[in-house]
Amino acid sequence: MVSSDIIPHKHNTSKSDRNKLLGNKSFTVWFTGLSGSGKSTIANELESRLISEGILTYILDGDNIRHGLNRDLGFSDSDRKENIRRIGEVSKLMVDAGVVVLTAFISPFREDRQKVRELFGENEFFEVFIKCSIEKCEERDVKGLYSKAREGKITDFTGINSAYEEPLNPDYIINTNESTVQESVNGLYNFIEKKIRF
Ligand code: ADX
Repeated sequence: MVSSDIIPHKHNTSKSDRNKLLGNKSFTVWFTGLSGSGKSTIANELESRLISEGILTYILDGDNIRHGLNRDLGFSDSDRKENIRRIGEVSKLMVDAGVVVLTAFISPFREDRQKVRELFGENEFFEVFIKCSIEKCEERDVKGLYSKAREGKITDFTGINSAYEEPLNPDYIINTNESTVQESVNGLYNFIEKKIRF
């Protein structure tokens, strides 16, 4: 609980001033999906595309953030919850700074994603479900983690012995079982592009 003795300071410059300076709106594109579903790959390609169009972006990625800011967190339900809470707050700050934020976290729990959504105004948070079957993710097993989980060397692995709650009403769905990275990014770019201009 925040103490009532802490009173927020109102600064002269607002998000809207920074948005005007940069020439576009800022918001969070929140990717959610199983490990190996393609979140980071798609976020990475989308970022290249947006940067080439003159849009300032930043990717917050689970595998990277867990080496720094969230290095004290593991994969219990409560640690994942805290992981997502902190990333929600960081995203909010970065959106306030005028940046288009792309987040790539499994973010397995609906309630935690909903809480992040509630930090933002309308048209400032877009949940993108990277839909991919567990069988396909396991077949890809890019990092070898699924086989480790099957061997019992990793506990609490999402999709195997830890839950993943699919979004019920995402803003955008990409099915990476069916579409190529290029097709996925093209479609998503068109969706994002409409939101970005004043
Ligand atoms: S989240 O569930 O808290 O949102 P996050 O996206 O930060 O997870 O981290 C997931 C990444 O950590 C995976 O892509 C994978 O590379 C790695 N990882 C290591 N252990 C686990 C685990 N037990 N469950 C899921 N991912 C794991």
